Amino acid sequence: MTPSRLQARILSNREKKKGVFLMELKAPGIARSARPGQFIMVRPPHGSDPLLPRPFSIHDARDGSVSILYRVVGRGTEQLSGLGKGQALAVTGPLGRGFPIRAGNYRPALVAGGMGLAPMPFLAKKLAALGRIPKILYGCRTKGELLGPSTLGAVIATDDGSCGRRGLVTGLLEEELCRAGSCRVFACGPWAMLRQVSLLCQKSQVPCQVSLEARMACGLGACQGCAVRGVHGGYLSVCSDGPVFDSRLIDWEQEPPL
Ligand SMILES: Cc1cc2nc3c(=O)[nH]c(=O)nc-3n(C[C@H](O)[C@H](O)[C@H](O)COP(=O)(O)OP(=O)(O)OC[C@H]3O[C@@H](n4cnc5c(N)ncnc54)[C@H](O)[C@@H]3O)c2cc1C
Ligand code: FES
Repeated sequence: MTPSRLQARILSNREKKKGVFLMELKAPGIARSARPGQFIMVRPPHGSDPLLPRPFSIHDARDGSVSILYRVVGRGTEQLSGLGKGQALAVTGPLGRGFPIRAGNYRPALVAGGMGLAPMPFLAKKLAALGRIPKILYGCRTKGELLGPSTLGAVIATDDGSCGRRGLVTGLLEEELCRAGSCRVFACGPWAMLRQVSLLCQKSQVPCQVSLEARMACGLGACQGCAVRGVHGGYLSVCSDGPVFDSRLIDWEQEPPL
């Protein structure tokens, strides 16, 4: 489906915790066709600085609005954080290939690291609508970095043990993969985490879809700015072939620069 390009009015833009904002935008066309794992390109408002729009996962889509959950890391996100209700932003979406979700007799495990939690509420909602209640495994460095309202009933791991299990979220996944019954894994987070998730799933012969990040310019498959190496040679565009990929297609030894 052709993505919509529009001026979307901000319905709210609230700081959920220090440096992390939840922005809701009125965008009925995007909300109607959005699928979990897809993203939108948002153009920060100040003319040519920064010049390029910024990609954000669709955190939720309902009742004519889409929301994004974003961390302030640089100029673009800094500008977004200063905006308020009623202001308008240039938005394009929905873009990319989302998580392939289907009915069936399987146990979905959603694995998120840090801001990788952003696309998970929308995915969890759609899976639940198909009768597949997912288990969410969520990891971050410390309790202070946890996102979301009681983090969606997730099983939590923190590097320092300040909340949930001490250690990496991949430790929780190893246990999940040992349980009986067929499982499918959907993951989003930093490259190193996704690489390990991919390895564990391949060992257990469990299907695994990963959502990747890369620097983006056009967001439409035209500039090759977001290329990652495929395992069979050649490059894949994160924006148009992904951002969600079957984890077996990625050359995990070639991390793209951010
Ligand atoms: C498909 C996709 C979905 C994304 N979804 C989300 C989301 O839901 N929430 C969210 O907070 N962010 C998300 N990001 C990352 C987000 O796009 C960047 O954080 C944002 O573009 C930074 O813009 P900036 O102008 O604030 O920072 P810049 O000035 O461009 O960069 C500032 C610093 O952030 C680093 N940086 C830039 N882009 C990224 C990136 N993609 N990942 C990690 N570090 C980066 C730079 O290396 C630099 O050190 C997503 C990225 C992609 C490709
Ligand atoms: S950002 Fe241009 S091809 Fe992906």
